[in-house]
Amino acid sequence: MDEAPPMQPESGPLPFDPQQVRTPALVIDEGALAGAARRFAALAHGTGCHALYSLKALSLPWVLECLSRLLDGFSASSLFEARLAREHLGDRGTLQFVSPGLTPEQAPAVAELCDRVSFNSLSQWRRLGSVVAGGAACGLRINPGLSLVEDPRFDPCRPGSKLGVPVDRVPRGEAAGLGLHLHTNCESTCVGDLVRTVERLRETRPDLIEDAGWFNLGGGYLFDDAEDRHRLREAVDLLGVDGSRPVLLEPGAALVQAAGFLVTSVTDCFRTDRDVLTAILDTSVNHLPEVLEYQYRPRLAGVEPGRLKHSLAGASCLAGDLFGDYGLSTPLEPGARLTFLDAGSYSVVKSHMFNGINLPTLYSLTEAGDLLERRRFDYGDFRMRCGGPANAC
Ligand SMILES: Cc1ncc(COP(=O)(O)O)c(C=O)c1O
Repeated sequence: MDEAPPMQPESGPLPFDPQQVRTPALVIDEGALAGAARRFAALAHGTGCHALYSLKALSLPWVLECLSRLLDGFSASSLFEARLAREHLGDRGTLQFVSPGLTPEQAPAVAELCDRVSFNSLSQWRRLGSVVAGGAACGLRINPGLSLVEDPRFDPCRPGSKLGVPVDRVPRGEAAGLGLHLHTNCESTCVGDLVRTVERLRETRPDLIEDAGWFNLGGGYLFDDAEDRHRLREAVDLLGVDGSRPVLLEPGAALVQAAGFLVTSVTDCFRTDRDVLTAILDTSVNHLPEVLEYQYRPRLAGVEPGRLKHSLAGASCLAGDLFGDYGLSTPLEPGARLTFLDAGSYSVVKSHMFNGINLPTLYSLTEAGDLLERRRFDYGDFRMRCGGPANAC
């Protein structure tokens, strides 16, 4: 796949013993999850914002249970997500909604479940605004027109973007009193980008800022450290809200990415015409789909770094089902365990059973250090996904 130098595994210890799980396994470290949620809540509250979690990143029930206790609410992108979110929030927290796909059939239920609904287009707002307005506060997702992501496939501000109304297309006065919703970045560690975005909006459409009833600054940032607080405060100050109008943040990956570990076993090893040892794993990039979508190599742990080049390959029939090349100290053999890091976000939610390869068994690593098996998938799940009866075994 890549002729880039092989990536070296991380040398630090894992927080659990990979031998203790049934592979493939997705382990969620509950301590890391709660730690990320607490840090994010402190960051958001310290800058006068509401801390929401976009459950599209990972929507496992026990993850939502944990996050609902530590944050102010959730953000959903479909009716199903909104239902799931409300089941976990009860009446304790705020639920935000935005989707380009909202239909007239779904709108009444969405209005009943959610506290705030942002409309993705003027057309959606004009057709469905009156249906939603009785139940939820309405907002408009805008496209501030400042591209921050190089790859247009992941750039919400790309020319002709379907995500949000280009700011120059919002008629003066039409958005008065509505919420203003923007989400323009992807896995960024640079909260300065958010400052630039709000600055751009102030230059181009100050009236939208002045007239807005509330703000949602989206997700897309791996919010974490003290520098982030400083930059976030700058962005919020530029809105001139003075605590009078709510400001929401709704990251997904920032809260769950680092808490997830994909543990896999080597099932076969052989040499090909490349000067590398190919190791077939009992997982697939379909369990970590962003490896293929973003063409990145996930960080690896649990093996010694070294000079022996290995190509780590998934078990499916797809030739490009490859995690990439890694440098290891000793040749891998069948039975060896490998662990991919940062597997918490956009993994389980995007996984599928292509080739009938089973999904990873789901585990929690509790704060007491115990590994808890939460859900094991089997042939019945596969048959159901193929259209068979739900109760087959
Ligand atoms: C509108 C909106 N908000 C929030 C998010 C969460 O983004 P992330 O997981 O990168 O923080 C997304 C992701 O696609 C989104 O589209």
